[in-house]
Amino acid sequence: MRIAPSILAADLADLSGALEICERGGADLVHVDVMDGHFVPNLTFGIPVLRALARRTHLPLDVHLMVERPATLLDEYLSAGAARVAIHWEAEPHLDRTLERIRKAGVAAGVAINPATPIELLVDSFHRLDYVLLMSVNPGFSGQAFLPHILGKARRLRALAAEQGATLEIAVDGGVDRSNLKQLAAAGVDTAIVGTAVYGAPEPTLAIAELRRLTENA
Ligand code: DX5
Ligand code: ZN
Repeated sequence: MRIAPSILAADLADLSGALEICERGGADLVHVDVMDGHFVPNLTFGIPVLRALARRTHLPLDVHLMVERPATLLDEYLSAGAARVAIHWEAEPHLDRTLERIRKAGVAAGVAINPATPIELLVDSFHRLDYVLLMSVNPGFSGQAFLPHILGKARRLRALAAEQGATLEIAVDGGVDRSNLKQLAAAGVDTAIVGTAVYGAPEPTLAIAELRRLTENA
């Protein structure tokens, strides 16, 4: 399983330090939560911050857009150095067109879905998708409790993708920690996004390595 620390849970006055923890801990990706204060009740990083992060790390940036109408600023997000961009199903009426734009820019295209949004709504986008970001909390904040029904959603999505002949990556975001990681791996999840369980740990670098070991022994 791949581990993507979510820097929202880090010391935001020390983003270089947050990136260094990812690199030293052996993270696969760096998860960056972009929030606009409209789609979710919080504001975080914007395009200049994304650019600065991309300059500071060789790790791929996994950008999670929690913004209304992500198509409006899409070119800026895509050229800021993101390796992957996920837009929310609930925030984009023209999903097909927007996913196509992401892939055309050579960036991996993802769709994020809120806990109450059924995975079946994604079937007709499978051919345009590289990954699905299953939210296991209601988006907006780090440090929330994992919603256990997401395990069933991950299993259903894995089965649906297989039935459709789609090769999809499944990522889960929100409340992931050592108590649910093995179950997520067993449910077919490929990538775990982890905020508080990394940056809230006494030794964040060791926490990344430990989470990885847990899934290797699963
Ligand atoms: C929630 C964000 C998550 C969050 C994860 O809206 O999308 O990426 O930062 O943090 P934890 O692991 O603390 O739930
Ligand atoms: Zn996120």
